[in-house]
Amino acid sequence: MTDASFRHRDLLGIQGLTPPEIQHLLDLADGHVDQCRGLDKASDAMAGRTVINLFFENSTRTRTSFELAAKRQGAEVINMQVSTSSVSKGETLIDTAVTLNAMHPDVLVVRHPESGAVKLLAEKVNCAVVNGGDGSHEHPTQALLDALTIRRRRGRLDGLRVAICGDVLHSRVARSNIFLLTTMGAQVRLIGPRTLVPGSFVAMGVEVFTNMKDGLKDCDIVMMLRLQTERMRGNFIPSVREYFRFFGLDRDTLARARSDALIMHPGPMNRGVEIDSEVADDFERSVIREQVEMGVAVRMAVLNLLARNLDDRRRNQPLT
Ligand code: CP
Repeated sequence: MTDASFRHRDLLGIQGLTPPEIQHLLDLADGHVDQCRGLDKASDAMAGRTVINLFFENSTRTRTSFELAAKRQGAEVINMQVSTSSVSKGETLIDTAVTLNAMHPDVLVVRHPESGAVKLLAEKVNCAVVNGGDGSHEHPTQALLDALTIRRRRGRLDGLRVAICGDVLHSRVARSNIFLLTTMGAQVRLIGPRTLVPGSFVAMGVEVFTNMKDGLKDCDIVMMLRLQTERMRGNFIPSVREYFRFFGLDRDTLARARSDALIMHPGPMNRGVEIDSEVADDFERSVIREQVEMGVAVRMAVLNLLARNLDDRRRNQPLT
């Protein structure tokens, strides 16, 4: 697979990407790891490019790493402050996007609380758009950075048994990871209370478990999710104490997985709710900080690829 044969203008989700396309993105990202660790010199591969971060929801990792990924390749970055923009005067998402597009950015990185909002926006602009997380729908660069972390540690994705535990229902991270991991041949298990992991997920080619003891057995990877209360409508758990007792990850629960199982969490973590500090900070097995590192490498690859591919389109169809 070559850059030119990556046929997408945008990266809106993992669903629909082919195994060679995912492989190509991971290979490109792998090539940026030394650079983002400061071991390789910074590049000017994106000099003259403009990236706009447009985040309608809070973020620490995603927004910062997109900014670093762009700047470490010489691009200009604008971080739109939604709270001080004309959105607060009632401007619509589409009008905001069309306005920014008229300033000819190369890439818009968008996070929005509504599932589908980023796709809607992408249809109205002619720059490249990256989904930085839309509602409970998708968070494609998170799944790519998780996959890169696993692949660098285990040398492969296919055949691995991956447990995704907790609030799967409200998790865009879980959905993107399910698409990516099943596409790449991993076996995915979802573990959580029935209220947060409905049986309907089986249709996505995964196994569903309602207890950690059975679900974690022989797993290579244990990926924990936080309770996404900001997207919950109603009561999904009886109490945090009971939730941790049945679905939290501590040393005893982890003993059900393989002895060399990796512990992952996309962040932000709620210690004592879904994960105990003892396992989160066990850096023999916890790769949570490595996930953050891989986030910069993945976003360098995605921004660079989409911006380069955009040039061909601009030649054929100049920006309006
Ligand atoms: N994993 C993730 O999306 O983290 P942020 O919300 O901090 O960007």
